[in-house]
Amino acid sequence: MDKYKVVMTGGLMNTALERIQKECDVKQWDKTGAIPREILFDWLKDAVGLMVTGNIQVDEELLQHAPKLKVIAQAAVGYDNIDIEACTRHGILFGNTPGVLVDATADLAFSLLLCSARRIHEGWDFVRAGSWRPGHNIPLGIDLAGKTLGIVGMGQIGAAVAKRARAFGMNVIYNNRHRRADDDNIGAAYEPFDVLLEKADCIIVLTPLSKETRKLFGREQFLRMKSTAYFINASRGPVVDTDALFDALKTGEIAYAALDVTDPEPLPVDHPLLQLDNILITPHIGSATTETRTAMAELATDNLLAGLAGKPLPACVNGKKTM
Ligand code: DGY
Repeated sequence: MDKYKVVMTGGLMNTALERIQKECDVKQWDKTGAIPREILFDWLKDAVGLMVTGNIQVDEELLQHAPKLKVIAQAAVGYDNIDIEACTRHGILFGNTPGVLVDATADLAFSLLLCSARRIHEGWDFVRAGSWRPGHNIPLGIDLAGKTLGIVGMGQIGAAVAKRARAFGMNVIYNNRHRRADDDNIGAAYEPFDVLLEKADCIIVLTPLSKETRKLFGREQFLRMKSTAYFINASRGPVVDTDALFDALKTGEIAYAALDVTDPEPLPVDHPLLQLDNILITPHIGSATTETRTAMAELATDNLLAGLAGKPLPACVNGKKTM
């Protein structure tokens, strides 16, 4: 039997890649940076499967260049780069990787809060620069116990962050598109968005990127926050208006920000945000542990191979599990 023709726009953990190579004839982009659109379109001409990465926009134009495509898989829970309606129109299944990255991402989001609150990286810079002498002080951090954490986007990752925050003695409030029915269970109280902005000492953003959440945090929202607020984004960069965040940090409208995601991403090395002292930025590493990236790659591979074989996808985003 001929092997399935599959295109991969980036790397994948080896064990998963080997599973794909066993059953598929693979064209894989292994260079730095995103595959150029013309090359991708050419490769997609006869492909039935696509293992895509978050730096590729899957839109109507791309799908028109992929007349044989049956299934697209992505090793990520977020899929703001995918036009799901267009996939459905073209009869293409799309699978993501929910569930398997909950703890890793919650750990990272809460780590950003802890590192910011205790000024960990400034302390390390201070030590490394040889400036650690009696009498030399670095800025004081804040206690987390007794503070109010506002979580914006209360899905599985939000609930896992709430659990960690409670263990640190924090009071947790949240806002979500839909109010949850299990506030007692997750140990967090629902608040309207504007109220959360005003009440929270620290805010962690975990909402997916959509039309509604693009630039959800702009000038007005930063103004509403406490001037002592710590602002953490572990969702998607464009949920935040970058210029407004820069101004809020520069003028002291808020105290500190820690970002695992940025807009643009990555930030150019001369970007003004990188000149500020009251910010910590990590390179989109929410799910970046060996165990979690392996689980994501395996689930994405399960989705891809199931779709190629005409079987239900274990994690399918667009409606029916098979088409
Ligand atoms: C996700 O799964 O959406 C993470 O952001 C990894 O990119």
